[in-house]
Amino acid sequence: MRSEFGERLSVSLVGESHGEYVEATLVGFPRGISVDFDALSRTMDRRRGGGALATPRRESDEPLFLSGISDGVTTGEPITVRILNQNMRSGDYGFCDTPRPSHADYTAQMRYGSGIDLRGGGHFSARLTAPLVAIGELARQALSLRGISVGAHLEAVGGVSEGRFSPVFLTKDELLSPGKKDFPTLDDRKGEEMRREIRSAAESGDSVGGIIECGAIGLPAGIGSPLGRGLENLLAGAIFVLGGVRGIEFGEGFSACAMRGSEHNDPYCIRDGEIATETNHAGGIVGGISNGMPILFRVAMKPTASIAREQRTVSLSDKKETTVKVGGRHDPCIALRAVPCVEAIASIVLLEAILETEEDGK
Ligand SMILES: Cc1cc2nc3c(=O)[nH]c(=O)nc-3n(C[C@H](O)[C@H](O)[C@H](O)COP(=O)(O)O)c2cc1C
Repeated sequence: MRSEFGERLSVSLVGESHGEYVEATLVGFPRGISVDFDALSRTMDRRRGGGALATPRRESDEPLFLSGISDGVTTGEPITVRILNQNMRSGDYGFCDTPRPSHADYTAQMRYGSGIDLRGGGHFSARLTAPLVAIGELARQALSLRGISVGAHLEAVGGVSEGRFSPVFLTKDELLSPGKKDFPTLDDRKGEEMRREIRSAAESGDSVGGIIECGAIGLPAGIGSPLGRGLENLLAGAIFVLGGVRGIEFGEGFSACAMRGSEHNDPYCIRDGEIATETNHAGGIVGGISNGMPILFRVAMKPTASIAREQRTVSLSDKKETTVKVGGRHDPCIALRAVPCVEAIASIVLLEAILETEEDGK
């Protein structure tokens, strides 16, 4: 089984939910970067967080760097980070014969056979996002040295939504403020409503979906490549590494279809002596290449597949219809914990595009 993405900066993920550890290897990361381990541990806490609104599976998630960092500084060699699994309850899951609807239990067995380790979702579990977030934080720190910031917020949960990032005048403060809160919204009142939405879904043994908006500022114009290596291509491909993603849209996205060109076009202007655009319907990317405006995209997350209700399924061994009631510990809203995961992926992809652009020359 191969779980990899990226070329100039590549990531591979290893491990299963109930194996001994989960691990990520990052190849192509620049040498000489001093790692801020306090910031790393704050980011790991954000992925783990969620309190009463997230899975009760709790682990320390301390990243162990096996290679590529010496005396706190990156060496340019592949960086491998391992996180031990400490809180497995394999008894929770005895349902590989009766696949959970809308999880990967059935498709994974069709692809890899019935011997595959699917305890706790196996390799398809969100446990794999722990090392992903750790290496994403390294990428974020490398970007920050170049004056680039990446942040995200939970824009919607079920039917409750808040405003979006300022498309043109997005500041570092606005971009990073949701990540400093327990609940990553721009508007705390809307955050309260979203919490209620998650609680109410969980209380009825159900789950709820959501939207994450991610932004990056400080990326100069001219980063990226056309066609297959465009920024949208790289971001979209990598964002789908996250389980539960149903869609991604850049800038105005699908709503651009209902606009006229005269409304949707972003006129160029000179702002503070620099070339800019008056509006940012493109989300900072044109022709696969950054235009110097904030990069903005939104990620649609489905409601968690594992819900605490009896659901219809089949027995794979006797090919009969039956039901399954999912035990175990699950997130009632994946989108909440996916916020730092989206930031991690965006950081890795933007760093890759910068390295690729620099090496490519003009
Ligand atoms: C941060 C995060 C947490 C998740 N937690 C759960 C969970 O508790 N239960 C669950 O059924 N799926 C969870 N998922 C989603 C599954 O991993 C995903 O639905 C599954 O792998 C099938 O992939 P697909 O939905 O992309 O088709 C989570 C995903 C992420 C990114």
